[in-house]
Amino acid sequence: MSNPTLLGRRVLLIIGGGIAAYKSLELVRLIKKSGGEVMTLLTKAGAEFVTPMSLAALSGHSVRQDLFMPEDETAMGHIELSRWADLVVVAPATAGLIAKAANGMADDLASTTLLATDKKTLWAPAMNVRMWEHPAVQANVSKLKSFDGFHRGAFVGPDQGEMACGEFGFGRMAEPAAILDAIAAALSDSKPLAGRKAVITAGPTFEAIDPVRGLTNRSSGKQGYAVAAALAELGAEVTLVSGPVFLNPPAGVRRIPVEAATEMLAAVEGELKSSPVDIAVMSAAVADWRVDGVATGKIKKVPGGGPPALQLIENPDILAAVSKSGPSRPKLVIGFAAETSDLEANAKAKLSRKGCDWIVGNDVSQDVFGSDGNAVTLFTRDGSESWARQSKTDIANRLAQHIVEHFKANPQ
Ligand code: C5P
Repeated sequence: MSNPTLLGRRVLLIIGGGIAAYKSLELVRLIKKSGGEVMTLLTKAGAEFVTPMSLAALSGHSVRQDLFMPEDETAMGHIELSRWADLVVVAPATAGLIAKAANGMADDLASTTLLATDKKTLWAPAMNVRMWEHPAVQANVSKLKSFDGFHRGAFVGPDQGEMACGEFGFGRMAEPAAILDAIAAALSDSKPLAGRKAVITAGPTFEAIDPVRGLTNRSSGKQGYAVAAALAELGAEVTLVSGPVFLNPPAGVRRIPVEAATEMLAAVEGELKSSPVDIAVMSAAVADWRVDGVATGKIKKVPGGGPPALQLIENPDILAAVSKSGPSRPKLVIGFAAETSDLEANAKAKLSRKGCDWIVGNDVSQDVFGSDGNAVTLFTRDGSESWARQSKTDIANRLAQHIVEHFKANPQ
């Protein structure tokens, strides 16, 4: 489904030493299939996991391996290699490679090339979860992200899951298809959504019972906030209509705080009326019902009086209303479907019932609410695509990349 084009783009792929290196073979194939050119640079440790022969066969170029191989240096040395590339990708990025680059160490071809390049570098880390979570590794990652002048900040993954070492957690290298999407994003104009307006709903709603009590749910708002951040980073003008959450608004995003579903709908409709909206992402966990006749004073507990009877009435469906908003309908309307069973059937039914364009389906029988990770399937009218469990930020970036591709194909 997602088919980013890398036509005419040149990728230098640095392969570090880790079991995930086998996935880099698939990545080379995907880059070539997307029209890109790829040169590979294999570290000594990387060569323990994949052979130069397979890489050369797949990439169509000889493999760079050694800083001091005369034939390598005469063909294309570390300086030319970095000049040749439009983007440098490190996959798998080991703790060692990350540490060297973060600290300016250059003692082999990979680290020397990383130091010599002024091109953007995309990192796809892969390591044991304890290594990834170690403060030393995290400090090096932050350091790489802070080297803005050199645009070194792009990371994809690591994903959460079972690792070759038998442990579970964040540390698995992102899947080749996700790395390909990140490559396309890194190579696309930095602000491909400039001039586009986006409205996003996020978080729970709070439906008052009386002035002090209410009905709400466990939505943290993290996924919606991550989508808002990703779209704003790509240049969109983002309005985030947010239920009560414990999150700060992302940089460059205008937040409209709301409580009840009816307020959320009014805020969204206000945005649609004020100027044409290109993208609507309805990720809020809107309460299906609200209390009919909210008490104006605190409902008193009367000794022996029993509990009050709450009469519930149905809330408006904001996603359905936006999808059917006539001339002010956003060009692309995306909903979310949190399901505990039959994800595909339920998500597809929701797509047609609500009239939106895409549905991001997630299986909430797993740990999703409040967690930093998520695993989703994106359903469009043409098909579907599943994304393995990864951070909500990575899911948001991937969704944002699909939105970019959509508007490239449908600029009107
Ligand atoms: O019907 P269900 O709640 O499963 O649908 C989920 C999708 O619909 C989400 O995108 C959610 O934000 C949206 N929704 C809404 N207003 C409602 C209920 C759901 O916008 N009242």
